[in-house]
Amino acid sequence: MDKIVIHGGRRLKGEVRISGAKNSALPLLFATLLAPGTHRVSNVPHLRDINTAEKLLSILGARVVRENGSFTVDSTDIRSVEAPYDLVRTMRASVLVLGPLLARLGHARVSLPGGCAIGARPIGLHLKGLEAMGATITLDHGYVEARAKRLQGAQIYLDTPTVGGTENLMMAASLAKGTTVLKNAAREPEIVDLAQALIKMGARIEGAGTATVTIEGVDELQPFEHQVMFDRIEAGTFMVAAAITRGDVLLKGIGVGHLEALISKLREAGAEVLEEDGALRVLGPSTLSAVDIRTQPHPGFPTDMQAQFMALMSLSSGTSVINETVFENRFMHVCELQRMGADISIDGHSAKVTGVKALLGAPVMATDLRASASLILAGLAADNTTEISRIYHLDRGYERIEEKLKGLGADIQRVPA
Ligand code: UD1
Repeated sequence: MDKIVIHGGRRLKGEVRISGAKNSALPLLFATLLAPGTHRVSNVPHLRDINTAEKLLSILGARVVRENGSFTVDSTDIRSVEAPYDLVRTMRASVLVLGPLLARLGHARVSLPGGCAIGARPIGLHLKGLEAMGATITLDHGYVEARAKRLQGAQIYLDTPTVGGTENLMMAASLAKGTTVLKNAAREPEIVDLAQALIKMGARIEGAGTATVTIEGVDELQPFEHQVMFDRIEAGTFMVAAAITRGDVLLKGIGVGHLEALISKLREAGAEVLEEDGALRVLGPSTLSAVDIRTQPHPGFPTDMQAQFMALMSLSSGTSVINETVFENRFMHVCELQRMGADISIDGHSAKVTGVKALLGAPVMATDLRASASLILAGLAADNTTEISRIYHLDRGYERIEEKLKGLGADIQRVPA
């Protein structure tokens, strides 16, 4: 299995172009299942999760043509309504086919995702919402089987503002009879991106990006063309890379609007973050201040940036407290950062990070997608050599990360096994 080898200590400098968002591209690709015809989704990043989505669409019967980040999906003939275990287990977001298949074809069979490295991550709220819309849900051999002649609009309160749940229900409600109101909906920018595409398809959606989304169902939808928004987590990871190496990095291809929580915490830590003609410039400080963070649903500090920020805080000049409130088991990177000399102790959902003068390169192991990114960041700042194994996690969510970092002056190689 490939490894990433980093000789740390280089100051990153230069420009980097941020790719399309994985978490937006996935629901957009699955939204093509809602209407027969040929859809076009552009700015799709080249990632392992996107390959999985392509495979799943093909299994369902859609014809997918992929060219330089542009996907043409012909979803006229859907011959299967089943998302098999092998695919759902490699990518949980596969459950997002449930809403579209059920709404268009009246039937969907989707494997339950089971556990994953960062916690139980159930889909009960997706199912509860679909039931409220009149679907019959049964469980059979680890598969969720959903049926409905025609979904009916409903008032749905989400106990937790689930991102995938909001997306699944928004897609399903677009073809339901009557009006659906989602309360306590997730407000992530990727939900707004999806809603914009659904509106292009003829859906009637109001309030996406707020806690109340109203969807007036229509009888049929049309194919759409849409450009995937930028990946705010990839952007955030490069911002931390600039800060942790005391670098000077200009991020291009982004919208500044969705990064407020991170920008504010980076500034508190002493980094300079400047807006320059739609790009963002991040300058790392010579001394990092300790900053507390608490992950929260958007617009709070994103859980998907927690591991990377912890790597940064492990080199601060004080003690910071990091609270993870979204996922129950998202501190898997801590043991690996400790192997590099970080001083971190965990108490339940809270990690106390006491900054050290320097991190030391070591062989470490990636445990999940964002944990992998935190190890790369630590490796960029560490003395000596860091070798990261199990980097298939990284390839799920970061497009050409080592090439992009190399372009900024990092000494980083992918070494084939
Ligand atoms: C999405 C993102 C992921 C990010 C997460 C939180 C995609 C493809 N993935 O994941 O990168 O880390 O949002 O920002 O967009 N929950 C329930 N019941 C449910 C559904 C969720 O209790 O039915 C809980 C989860 O256990 C978790 C919280 O809600 O504690 C948030 O999960 P959710 O927003 O659903 O995450 P995903 O959509 O899976």
